[in-house]
Order: sequence, then C-alpha cells, then structure tokens
Amino acid sequence: MRTQVAIIGAGPAGLLLGALLHRSGIDAVIVEQRSADYVLGRIRAGVLEQTTVDLLEQAGVGERVHAEGLRHDGTELAFGGGLHRIDFNALTGRHVMVYGQTEVTRDLMAARSQAALPTWYEAEHVAIADYQSAHPRVTFEKDGVRHQIECDFIAGCDGFHGVCRASVPPAAITAYEKVYPFGWLGVLADVPPATEELVYASHERGFALCSQRSRTRSRYYVQCASDDDVARWSDDAFWDELRRRLPDEVAERVVTGPSIEKSIAPLRSFVAEPMRFGSLFLAGDAAHIVPPTGAKGLNLAAADVGYLAQAMREHYGERSDAGIQAYSQRCLSRIWKAERFSWWFTSLMHRFPEAGEFGARIQRAELDYLVGSKAASTALAENYVGLPLA
Ligand code: APR
Ligand code: PHB
Repeated sequence: MRTQVAIIGAGPAGLLLGALLHRSGIDAVIVEQRSADYVLGRIRAGVLEQTTVDLLEQAGVGERVHAEGLRHDGTELAFGGGLHRIDFNALTGRHVMVYGQTEVTRDLMAARSQAALPTWYEAEHVAIADYQSAHPRVTFEKDGVRHQIECDFIAGCDGFHGVCRASVPPAAITAYEKVYPFGWLGVLADVPPATEELVYASHERGFALCSQRSRTRSRYYVQCASDDDVARWSDDAFWDELRRRLPDEVAERVVTGPSIEKSIAPLRSFVAEPMRFGSLFLAGDAAHIVPPTGAKGLNLAAADVGYLAQAMREHYGERSDAGIQAYSQRCLSRIWKAERFSWWFTSLMHRFPEAGEFGARIQRAELDYLVGSKAASTALAENYVGLPLA
C-alpha cells in the first residue's frame, strides 16, 4: 500500500487527524491494533473546549456535538460544605461543551466509514521503520497476512502504550513524569445528573467529581488509593462514599442506580520531548498525559492533530515545511500550559496524605482566595475553557 500519511492508532487523535487530512485532500491510512468496538468501549472524559468543537466542525463532524452536546457556561467548586460557581462565560466570554469522548469517536468512525476511508482494525505486530528518511514504512499483520504501507509521514497517535514513541531510541527523547499517589474510581450510570453543571469537590475524605454525559447519563468519580481494587467497591459503597464528599444540597440530589461501568484510573503527568523525529510525529496520549482534573487530555490531543493537519496542508499545498519544523515546539508550548493547569487543579483539589494538616490549610486558603478573587477565578476559567491555539 502507498499513502501520504500513515496514522497509527484510531483513538480520537488518529481519527480526527484522518478526517482533517481527508478534508484537505490528503490521503491517509489508519492502522489500529484493537477492534472498533473495543475502542468505543473505553470510557474517557467528556468536556470539549471551543477550539476542539471548532476542529470537529472543520473535520465535518460538528453536527451531533451541536445537537446533543450540553453547553456549560460555568462549573461549581465544592468545599467547606458549600458550592461556589465559577462563571466561565462572564469571566472569559467562552464556554465548554459536555459531550463524551466515546461520542466524538463514534462520530469520527461513522464519517470515516461513510467516506470509505481505509482503516485497518485488529492489526497485529504493528511496526514502523525508516522514519528518519523521506520514505518511512509501516508493517503489520491482519488475519495472518503481512502488509506494508509506504508513506511520506507517520503520525504516532497510538496512545501512551503505543509502538511509535517506543520505537524512538531512548537517547533521542526526554520524558518528564509525575505520578500522583492516588487514583480515580469512576462510575457511569444511567441516572440524571445531580446538578446542571459539573461539581469539583474538595473534601477531607478526598476529591469527588460530579460529571455527566447527557441529561440521563451521569459520570461520577471519587479519589481512591493507587493500589485500590475496583472489585472491592460495590455500587452502594461507591454511592455512599460519593455522597459523603459532597455538600448536602448536592448529595441529596444524587440519583443512584446500577453502574454501567466502574473502573480505577491512575493519575499521571507525562510529557515526551520532542514530538517529531524526522518523518514521525507523535500526537495525543502518545506524547503526553495529564491527570484528568480539568479534562484536558482529549482537548490536547485535538490541538496536536490540528497543528499537524495544518503542517501537512502547508507541505502538500504550499510546498512549505515551516509547519513541520514548528510542529513540536508549537504543540509543546500549549501542552506545558495544560500540564501546569492540570497539575495545579489536581494539587488543589485532592487529599495528599503526606502534606498533613498544613497542606490541607494551604489548600483551603487557596480555594477561599480562588472563589473570592476575580483575578484568580479568571485564571481558572480561561484555562478550563482552553487557551487559544497559537
Ligand atoms: N498499533 C496500532 N494501534 C495502537 C498501538 C499499536 N502498536 N498501540 C496502541 N494503539 C491504539 C490503541 O488501541 C488506541 O485505540 O492507539 C489508540 C490510541 O488512542 P487513545 O489512547 O485514545 O489516545 P489518543 O487518540 O491520543 O486520545 C487522547 O484519550 O486517553 C485519552 O485522556 C486522553 O482523552 C484523551 C484521549
Ligand atoms: C468526565 O466527565 O469524565 C470528566 C469531566 C471532567 C473532568 C474529568 C472527567 O475534569
């Protein structure tokens, strides 16, 4: 096979890149090691920045997010038994859209199959070669048959555990990492959300989050120990723990029901630099991870592939490699700001047992300051709605 861009990974990064390239008349083939159903079965966050929605529109898949997405003009911070609203719209003139990553993925998959664009699911032994040259290759096996793709560029959209970053010699890459001493236990349930907007709760028993996917589907989380076992958590135990960490006015409105999904996610900050190695580009979770507080993961992945699609358009359309040269640095400048925000929001809202009572008092002082100061609230709001694309 021959294509212009070989995309490894059919998560949101790979699929969105494929759609953006298609819209620009650039050929791409996607190679994914899992099945489409498996990819759709992964439950991830669901808050889209306006710049992400803009990119979905550009990719031709903006219709359903506008019809079914829920526009949120603010969020609630819960602490000390009370609720404190951060009004994004008043502070920044912007808002976010609540629409699950699963739905984004579904829309992109549907558009891709409608346009009959090539996607190889359940590809085994995916490997990349010659990415330092102008003729890189991707090889894989499908149903026991070996395939090779010759291409101009490889887009490594294969997530944190993918093959692309792992194929780069360790000496050529620098990784920055922070692992947090706790995880998030999440439950998805077909119950109406307790509140209109999301609630980020800081409580002495640990952080809790009330999120949602629609008017009839809720997503809730509680901070748990990193080595906790999801099998230990019955639905009832989860609902009890969640309600304990919420202000009474929210707790009494939580509608409980059987969980459709329940899992524990570790929290990590990670950045690999650079993000381009010759003809190989890393994008999304392949290059960086943020802790979920603030829901930046999907938005960062979208911004990366927005820059990458732009670089490809300049390369093929304008015969300019300026965008290719600038790719890594452009992405990283925005990524580090989102890393900082996600780290800060995580540090503010969670219980860090080793920080002791002093740490807890400092957090409370910062929360009081945050909701009392327009400057501090604005800093939260403008990061939450998303920093502008450079
Ligand atoms: N070959 C082919 N595909 C691979 C390989 C491989 N060796 N390794 C991994 N993959 C696939 C995975 O199966 C997955 O479908 O790459 C895809 C990567 O998708 P994601 O992990 O969803 O990453 P990305 O597309 O960058 O999306 C970022 O996902 O993890 C969240 O918080 C993150 O919301 C953000 C978004
Ligand atoms: C989610 O809905 O899963 C979600 C929302 C906001 C976050 C993290 C996760 O900050």
